[in-house]
Amino acid sequence: MILKMPPSGAKPRSPWKTALVSEQPGQIGIARCADRNDALAMAALNLRWDRDGGAPPRTGFLDEFADAWSSDADHYPAWLARRADGDPVGFAVGVVARSLPSLRHGAGGWLHLSRLFVVPDLQGQGVGARLLDTVIRWSVDSGLYRVQLNATDQARAFYRRAGFGSPQDTLMQLVLTDRLPGS
Ligand SMILES: CC(C)(COP(=O)(O)OP(=O)(O)OC[C@H]1O[C@@H](n2cnc3c(N)ncnc32)[C@H](O)[C@@H]1OP(=O)(O)O)[C@@H](O)C(=O)NCCC(=O)NCCS
Repeated sequence: MILKMPPSGAKPRSPWKTALVSEQPGQIGIARCADRNDALAMAALNLRWDRDGGAPPRTGFLDEFADAWSSDADHYPAWLARRADGDPVGFAVGVVARSLPSLRHGAGGWLHLSRLFVVPDLQGQGVGARLLDTVIRWSVDSGLYRVQLNATDQARAFYRRAGFGSPQDTLMQLVLTDRLPGS
């Protein structure tokens, strides 16, 4: 699914009228991931998501994830949602592709949103919408012209509410393996 950015730097309509968080809204903060500690917190959430989905554990996964993110952090913009006590409860990670200069269009690029996850006990309380809104605002401010992602069946309606839709006909792909969902 893709979200096309509006032309000439105009901000997109905020996808959510209000972020509904039944805990006090101020109790969940969202911040850009900055260091290895943040990467380890993301890794722990990713581990939980994968394990909840039935994936087998792998020794050293937390360091593996944190090393991969830390080695090229600018390429993987990421955000964590945390409770006031610092407990991480959600995260979003993207992969940026920058366009080369062109005579036909301005500078830009796109973000592939590769992960968006909220811990089950906080789902449905607006945290995912706030994370997604943060990702979209950052993408606009960074001069990108598209946000794209592979949506799970369960999350398609969530993304549609935020303005995502099917890509235009010109966007093509060649699937190289059916082992992975392509996130
Ligand atoms: C998908 C996910 C990130 C959504 O986060 P969330 O915090 O539960 O969602 P929110 O509470 O912010 O929901 C915002 C709005 O979308 C709606 N919504 C959320 N999930 C939805 C779904 N699966 N189908 C339809 N609507 C949905 C909510 O009802 C809410 O609507 P409202 O503003 O009218 O109240 C979260 O459920 C999750 O982590 N799921 C498991 C991982 C996953 O599937 N990630 C997506 C991979 S592509």
